[in-house]
Amino acid sequence: MKHRLQCIDCSRIFNPAQIPIYACPACGDLLHIVYNYDSLGRKFRESLHSPGPLSVWRYHRILPVSLANAISIAEGGTGLSKSERLARSLRMSEVYFKNDGQNPTGSFKDRGMTVAISRAVEIGADTVLCASTGNTSASMAAYAAKAGLKAIVLIPKGKIAMGKLLQAMVHGSKICQVEGNFDKALERARKMASGRRGLYLVNSINPYRLEGQKTLAFEVWEQLGRRIPDVVIVPVGNAGNISAIWKGFQELRRTKLTARVPRMIGVQASGAAPLADAYAKNRQKVIPWPNPETIASAIRIGAPASWKKALRAVRESRGAIIKASDEEITAAQRLLANHEGIFAEPASAASVAGLLKAKKARLLTPRETVVCVITGHGLKDQKAAAAFAGL
Ligand code: F0G
Repeated sequence: MKHRLQCIDCSRIFNPAQIPIYACPACGDLLHIVYNYDSLGRKFRESLHSPGPLSVWRYHRILPVSLANAISIAEGGTGLSKSERLARSLRMSEVYFKNDGQNPTGSFKDRGMTVAISRAVEIGADTVLCASTGNTSASMAAYAAKAGLKAIVLIPKGKIAMGKLLQAMVHGSKICQVEGNFDKALERARKMASGRRGLYLVNSINPYRLEGQKTLAFEVWEQLGRRIPDVVIVPVGNAGNISAIWKGFQELRRTKLTARVPRMIGVQASGAAPLADAYAKNRQKVIPWPNPETIASAIRIGAPASWKKALRAVRESRGAIIKASDEEITAAQRLLANHEGIFAEPASAASVAGLLKAKKARLLTPRETVVCVITGHGLKDQKAAAAFAGL
């Protein structure tokens, strides 16, 4: 086995065959996956000599599931489009949008889900489970269908966009509506999965899922002609994705493909911003918000599970976590649609709202190369789109 699990707090190393994967058996903190980068580096570098195409599984040498076991619906390989009009108006020379709304179910979750579901099959689970603000459930439902697994979705009652709910239903998941918000649903899902081997939890506390999501960093690096951007801006909810993307960039450095890493800037909605708060007040811990509220329903989260990983990502990279109001998010969604031809759901447009704010706050300089991650497609949230269109 080429990978091990490591606790992000006490650093103990575990054999993945022997422990549950959601928390460290010694101290209870989250786990992440580590490799022997010295022995793996050469093979990984060599595998990148082939010209492509880009995809999550192009990077299988540094993934914890073997290619032969991959459950795939052609995820990853999403476009990196160069901003013309928005960049000009900001007087920035190089701004890009990494459009992960182009994934099979319309969000970045597919990058992680292909790996998590492949792992579920590998270990013999028969049912997969997640709590979700919508996109995770849509993605899990599709990959579970492909793999022939049963799927159970816990969603906050009445709080997820219809497009996403329909995706989960169409792919045949069992849907359970939970009173309260996403944080409650995740708590419930964790309890349900605890100690049950056949029931596999695929939220981002599952480190296998984040392994898939880190491939966005590899693709960006290749798409920029093997160049590391100066800054990567990511919408933040449960804080798994920013942590995963940061891990990807660190692994490019650890395998000696690059000497540099970017600054990571996370963006939360002002009504759901416990991480931005902790960052602004220079706290070591995140204090959960009991009643998060924002139109960006995908990131309406008050107790981000991966807060420690995310705070580390921004502090180690000398980035930041900032917040954007619902008005700023909606304005960014409009800008992206009207000036760049990209239709993003509100949570996804948070990265562009963050770009505008970061420029104003002088967190970016005009000559820097900036990549905004667009996390999900605008058609998923038709209510937000209808309001946007004045219907
Ligand atoms: N953007 C979109 C479109 C999302 O759906 C999510 C998370 C995020 C950004 C934030 O990513 O949680 O890794 O910080 N959606 C989750 C879900 C919570 O259940 O679909 P994160």
